[in-house]
Amino acid sequence: MTKQKGGALMSTFRFAESSGMPIYRQLENGIRKMILDGNLSAGDRLPSSRQLATDLGISRQTVKNVFEQLTIEGFLNSRRGSGTFVGDVAVMKLPPEMPRDRRRLNGYRVQPSKHARAIAATKATTRLGSVAAFRPGVPALDMFPRKAWSAAHSRVMRSGNDILFSYGPPGGLPELKRAIRLHVRDHRGIRCDEDQIVVTAGAQQAFVLIALTLIKSGSVVWCEDPGHIAVRDAMRLLCADVKHVPVDRHGFDLEYARQRHPRARLIFVTPSHQHPLGITMSLNRRLELLDSAQQHGCWIVEDDYDSEFRYAERALPAMQALDGSGHVLYVGSFSKSLFPALRIGYLISPPGLVDAFAAAQTLLSQNVSPLQQQVLASFMLDGSFNAHIRNMCTLYQSRRDLLVQGLRQHAGSFLDIEPCLAGMHLIGWLRDGTANELVAAEAIRSAGIDCLPLSIYCVEQVLRPGILFGFACVPDSEINAATRVVGAAMADALHGGRHNVPPRQH
Ligand SMILES: Cc1ncc(COP(=O)(O)O)c(C=O)c1O
Repeated sequence: MTKQKGGALMSTFRFAESSGMPIYRQLENGIRKMILDGNLSAGDRLPSSRQLATDLGISRQTVKNVFEQLTIEGFLNSRRGSGTFVGDVAVMKLPPEMPRDRRRLNGYRVQPSKHARAIAATKATTRLGSVAAFRPGVPALDMFPRKAWSAAHSRVMRSGNDILFSYGPPGGLPELKRAIRLHVRDHRGIRCDEDQIVVTAGAQQAFVLIALTLIKSGSVVWCEDPGHIAVRDAMRLLCADVKHVPVDRHGFDLEYARQRHPRARLIFVTPSHQHPLGITMSLNRRLELLDSAQQHGCWIVEDDYDSEFRYAERALPAMQALDGSGHVLYVGSFSKSLFPALRIGYLISPPGLVDAFAAAQTLLSQNVSPLQQQVLASFMLDGSFNAHIRNMCTLYQSRRDLLVQGLRQHAGSFLDIEPCLAGMHLIGWLRDGTANELVAAEAIRSAGIDCLPLSIYCVEQVLRPGILFGFACVPDSEINAATRVVGAAMADALHGGRHNVPPRQH
């Protein structure tokens, strides 16, 4: 015997005209939901397609198509000559809609582990992706040579090499490795073979591969404090015992680290341009660090993220170039020298580790896109990369000077400003007696300027309050106006609203 419940219920069905969803899809979803909610049960008879089409004011063909689809899915079955019936579907009581408290679902607590929750609070994601003035770490995207890049892209597409459309060889394309070898030889004094290079998805992936391959849970890892947030939090995610080591005027404070936290397995440093303070590690400190790594059998990870940009003297060669014993893992990135969205970096390692790094990369995320690798290789080998770096060095120096001038003019009563000698940001040090840097940074941010307070890079260290201003990504013509906004916002926040700051438009 068949029940007739379906007809009555279906007549209550209404289309949501403003939803933008096609009506066939709404009808399908509506019938599915009635079945899953238990409002239609196995054996209930649905109205005929003709009847339902008339009731709902839609075409009969639409209703027939919906019945057909739901029959294929098993929600309905049709018996020739006798009608359409609800199939024998196990009814699942779904909540009427996603609960307001998204941490609870059907009585279960929906939340990551305690460990993952602590990591999710990382400051590495603070407004990541912003390109507003004066976002630290973002290169001059307005001046990127898009024509030369697209010419390289066209050359690669014309080459018709099918291999580039597949997974690519583990560790990277030979041509890109050759271009990288020449680049680090000429710019960083590094002598290496191409088979010591692993092409990675940015420096960040290189750091993760190093940890996955060389440490175990609880291994001691030394990180600079202040330092690169994404490194220390990735190491915590991988269950390292991260120890925070201060930085003095020679760079990483090795003596402090040795006394307080012996037995490190990995040491993360930014010797050519300490991140974020900008100190260059002295030659003696480099040699001491190398000696210590050799004696204790630990690895130095040399993060050389922005060494291309120096405005006074030439850069010291990389630490890797001084290392006779194979304890340095050198990490480079194209995020600053080209653009972060490229997601290409590289790891130069002692030969015995390369296969392990390449295998870990394949298991973790497969290789970096071979197509992009080939475009980059072509861009480097035809001289466009070197030309771009030369142009950016000149440009960044002039943007830095405009920033220094503007900040001194408009925010000089709050900030001490010294031009930096390298890199893409400088630190404005808050003058004595001025309020908290977080208040100042927040006020500037609310006025539409994206600078970052120095304290977000610190874990244990309490430094003089300062604010990081990135100058590379701001067109020359906008720098002065943006510094005026900074000055007015600081006056507002620190001197109680003497200025009215119009928000910047992006
Ligand atoms: C200290 C430091 N190292 C490395 C990088 C580059 O990371 P990636 O190549 O993953 O973009 C950055 C980027 O902000 C950085 O600040």
